[in-house]
Amino acid sequence: VNVAFAGDAENFARIPRQDELKLTPGAAYVHFTSNNTIFGTEWKKEPEVGAVPLVCDASSDIYSRPIDVTKHALIYAGAQKNLGPSGVTVVIVRDDLIGKAPATIPTMLDFKIHAENKSLYNTPPCFGIYILRLVMKWLVAQGGLDAIGTINVRKAAKVYAEIDRTGFYRGHAAKDSRSNMNITFRLPNEELEKAFAKEATAAGLDGLKGHRSVGGLRASVYNAFPEDGIDALVAFMKDFERKHG
Ligand SMILES: Cc1ncc(COP(=O)(O)O)c(C=O)c1O
Repeated sequence: VNVAFAGDAENFARIPRQDELKLTPGAAYVHFTSNNTIFGTEWKKEPEVGAVPLVCDASSDIYSRPIDVTKHALIYAGAQKNLGPSGVTVVIVRDDLIGKAPATIPTMLDFKIHAENKSLYNTPPCFGIYILRLVMKWLVAQGGLDAIGTINVRKAAKVYAEIDRTGFYRGHAAKDSRSNMNITFRLPNEELEKAFAKEATAAGLDGLKGHRSVGGLRASVYNAFPEDGIDALVAFMKDFERKHG
């Protein structure tokens, strides 16, 4: 494995620039994750990798915006953020890549088996797939990916504007790398962060504690999260700063 870019030195706070990628000519594939759920960074467009197949883990921002499928050889995404309940994984794979897995790979991990059997090789999780269908119908009724993309940009921009308003809050991700799905931010100290999470929960705004590996706060605002909730969070942030800032 060649690591084309490692963000650990900067605590994964930004997406690399194209000219920073150390790609291997002739590689079997390049893998990237379009949205970093934990640190709150998101690729604004796919990396350019030439003729090498591009593979994307799109689990945490799939269908949050239009996606250029032709740029990818393989997209896979766990359903649990924007698609439906956990237990279903959506895979979009280029035909010519099917059937290339080594014979030693377990049957259930071979896309060829699933493609040949129309995703019915085993007993599929019917309920999860049914819910995914309902979510897709909802998404189409919203106006599709263009429309949801516009809504998501607007929702996230409201929270980022509040983060940037005074300096009391500090966004974790670099501005050009900010995720529209997971908004990560810090407060002046950990006591205030604890108080923020506790008071937010009491105010009905649950789940704001950051991932255990990062600390701080994280607002996950997937497709299903209503804009009213964003407005409530921004109002809470203003109020908390007035009290503790
Ligand atoms: C981008 C991304 N990839 C992979 C995973 C892991 O998914 P799972 O728990 O379904 O293996 C997650 C978290 O759910 C994620 O956000």
